Amino acid sequence: MATIVLGVCGSIAAYKAADVASRLVKLGHEVHCVCTPTALQFVTPLTLMTLSRNPVITTFEDETGSWVPVHIELASRADVLAIVPASANTMACMAQGLAPNALTSLYLANRAPVLIFPAMNGNMWNHPATQQNASILRARSGHTIIGPEDAGMLACGVEGQGRLVSVDKIVESIIAAL
Ligand SMILES: Cc1cc2nc3c(=O)[nH]c(=O)nc-3n(C[C@H](O)[C@H](O)[C@H](O)COP(=O)(O)O)c2cc1C
Repeated sequence: MATIVLGVCGSIAAYKAADVASRLVKLGHEVHCVCTPTALQFVTPLTLMTLSRNPVITTFEDETGSWVPVHIELASRADVLAIVPASANTMACMAQGLAPNALTSLYLANRAPVLIFPAMNGNMWNHPATQQNASILRARSGHTIIGPEDAGMLACGVEGQGRLVSVDKIVESIIAAL
C-alpha cells in the first residue's frame, strides 16, 4: 500500500479528482487530498474526505491538530504527489517556488515523484508563460507532466487543447510511478 498525496486545484475538472481518489482507495492505497483554496469552489472537502477516507487539507487552519505541520508531515510520507487537475496558476507557483497555500508549500517540502495533470483553456495552456512554466517543471528531476489532451470540447465551450486526460490514464500513471 502506497501513500498518495492528491493535490487539487481550482479548475472545472476538479470534480474528477474525487473519482481518482475513490479508485486509488479501492486499489488499497492511502490517499490524502490537499486542495488549494480555489479548488473548494469546485469540489467539497466532504466529498474528497469521504472518498479518500482521510481528512482533507485545505488551509493552514486545518493543520492545528498536530505540532508538526501536516503539509510537512504528509510530504515526508508521500510515495507520489499527483496534482489533479493542475491549474495554470499552481503550475506557475510550482515552477517559481512560490508557496502561498498548503498544496504549494507541501510541493516544496516533497521529495517523492511529482505527476502533474494540467487542465485549462487552450489559450491558457498555450500562453508562453504557461509553456515556460511547463518546461521548467518538465526539466526538474522526478517531475512528469501528463496531458492535457490535444483536442476535445472544453468546459468554456470551445473545441481545443487543454482537457484533463482521462481518469483511467491518471490512475494508471500514478500506479506506474509508484
Ligand atoms: C468556472 C471557472 C473554471 C476555471 N477553470 C480553470 C481551469 O480549468 N484551469 C485553470 O488553470 N484555471 C481555471 N480557472 C481559473 C482558476 O480558478 C484561477 O486561476 C485560480 O487562481 C487558480 O487557483 P489555484 O491554482 O490556487 O487552484 C477557472 C475559473 C473559473 C471561474
